[in-house]
Amino acid sequence: MRINPETVERIKQAADIVEVVGDYVSLKKRGANYTACCPFHNEKTPSFNVNPSRQIFKCFGCGAAGDSVKFVMDIDGIGYGEALRYLAQKYSIEVQEEKLTDEQEQRQNERESLYIVLNFAKNFFQEQLTQTDEGQSIGLSYFKERGFNDTIRKKFELGYSPDVWDALTQAALAKGYNADILEKAGLLIRREGSSSGGYDRFRGRVIFPIHNVAGKAIAFGARILKTDPNSKAHQPKYLNSPETDVYHKSEVLYGIFQAKNAIRQLDVCYLVEGYTDVVSLHQAGIENVVASSGTSLTVEQIRLIGRFTPNVTILYDGDPAGIKAALRGLDLVLEEGLNVSIVTFPNGEDPDSYVQRVGAQAFQAYLKSAARDFISFKTQTLLEDAGDDPFRRAAVISEVVGSIVKIPDAIQRQIFFRRTAETMRVDEQMLISEGNKLIRKQKDTPPPRAKERPAGPPPDSPHDLFLGPPGEEPGQDALALPTPPPVVQRDPVILHEHECVRLLVNFARYELEPGVSLCHYMLSELAGIEFRQPMYQHLLLVFREFFSRGEIPDTNYFLDHPDPDIKSQAIDFVTTRHHLSEQWQDKYEIFVPTEVDKLHDLAFTNILRLKKGYNEIIMKEIHEGLAKTKDSDETDQLLQRFMHHKTIEKEIAKLLGTVVS
Ligand code: CTP
Ligand code: MN
Repeated sequence: MRINPETVERIKQAADIVEVVGDYVSLKKRGANYTACCPFHNEKTPSFNVNPSRQIFKCFGCGAAGDSVKFVMDIDGIGYGEALRYLAQKYSIEVQEEKLTDEQEQRQNERESLYIVLNFAKNFFQEQLTQTDEGQSIGLSYFKERGFNDTIRKKFELGYSPDVWDALTQAALAKGYNADILEKAGLLIRREGSSSGGYDRFRGRVIFPIHNVAGKAIAFGARILKTDPNSKAHQPKYLNSPETDVYHKSEVLYGIFQAKNAIRQLDVCYLVEGYTDVVSLHQAGIENVVASSGTSLTVEQIRLIGRFTPNVTILYDGDPAGIKAALRGLDLVLEEGLNVSIVTFPNGEDPDSYVQRVGAQAFQAYLKSAARDFISFKTQTLLEDAGDDPFRRAAVISEVVGSIVKIPDAIQRQIFFRRTAETMRVDEQMLISEGNKLIRKQKDTPPPRAKERPAGPPPDSPHDLFLGPPGEEPGQDALALPTPPPVVQRDPVILHEHECVRLLVNFARYELEPGVSLCHYMLSELAGIEFRQPMYQHLLLVFREFFSRGEIPDTNYFLDHPDPDIKSQAIDFVTTRHHLSEQWQDKYEIFVPTEVDKLHDLAFTNILRLKKGYNEIIMKEIHEGLAKTKDSDETDQLLQRFMHHKTIEKEIAKLLGTVVS
């Protein structure tokens, strides 16, 4: 509905530009104006200005400019109406609306309706938690058991989704929300061919709403309960909302809304892994904390932190997986010019358990004593791994130097070269020239391969798809990396299926994150998917079967398998892996991170590629349908579906582009 002009006027009068902008970036007073590093482009020296007397902002770097409303629209990527509503809420102005015609109603901004239904869901989950018997006896008592008090529960708007197929959906439909919007918000999973029927994504779980910077619920994380009947023992610990028009996982940090003021004031952001770490630390009065939610950091997330402070302290578990998670993607943070320190916790502890055990004061004291800058953390961790092996120690040097050269600030780089030279007892000048070599090499990197290709479509273009008959087994020659790409074009979906099974056979038991094995991750991502290649499908079923019994087969199970086909397939899977690392190690004498080091990203990108492949198949079918049909209704429908899958394609491409390897 439209906000009436009087209300708009009142909102604009009330919204002070310094306050509004100050919610998002930390402003420094300079004369009559305020300055900051521009939140709309990446810069290291402030060229963003706020003028309180004229009530406008302007960036002399990128040209962004406008009033309070424009600022909110741009920074949250929301519409005019939505920005006005946010400001009205901030300044407690009652919004008076004009009635809309049916037609206008229909055209109502879809994003806005997503926010509304997400808000409805958030409230619903909270009500279920506190107002129902099931919510109280299961959800509320779970939170109590974890030591979360009512204040913190309300602050994070925690909730509970009842253990019913469609509790939320029914409540939402009764309120007049349509099933389409519920589905687009990621709350409803439609049943094939049904117009409104389907089931709630989140059932029988406690709910952690995920908020955007402005405090709106945009997604949910839902945790399984400990006291769970056996039937659910193999479901993932957390279910999260899928990507939607308002939720782009790679751009969001859990807790940023609740933490932003403290981050600005204390000028440091603590980065943890989990929802519960954020909540627990807040309860202990440590509020400058956000979570990456168990994934690799993305550039967008780092920039989000950078809007509030240049200082990040990463607090991760002390086990090998936690340390790996801390190291992963960290060069990216350095590249963005942030100062990074790392704190790990004694084995088996995470920030949540640690702060609950020792209390806030001891926790802060521990951070002070245990924090190490990223470069020395990395050096030390890698050195411990390398032991006395001179070859591996040399590899550590180039690893660390590789990180140092990512730091944009020359003075900082120099400091780190000196320190590293000291810890590793090598010549500083040697490190610097090693660094220069790396920089030169990066500059010499040839442009993307596609450009060098002569005639013919690039390998990833849709023209290459579907050349092999479906179900054809890819020959091993096509898979033995790093030999050049095969001349024979293969069905890419089957290649990705191959890669899925190869990872499973080799690494099923590896933990990608504490408590999440590769098998667990892959199977939950592959839920409902059947492989097209018969052997891979068979192996997938074997994993599913084991996993449903709470077991994970290891590589030897397949290598020793009585069925000769399975056995030889397993041998292939295993030798591809050794082949790869040996070849690189011997031929090029360079340090190759073993696959295990990159397993998280390998699994993630492989699943994405597979999904991309399936999506392409569907789009091709729609395309064929469009070519055939003469019926305008059907054309409409097909076009809509096509657009939907096009969006999915873009999302996947974006995700693939931001994976840190
Ligand atoms: N995560 C996820 N899906 C999983 C496991 C984890 O999305 N199957 C994400 C969640 O955001 C979670 C974070 O990774 O918060 C860290 O995982 P973990 O340490 O296992 O969870 P905690 O938040 O510590 O939860 P708890 O303390 O309840 O075990
Ligand atoms: Mn935990």
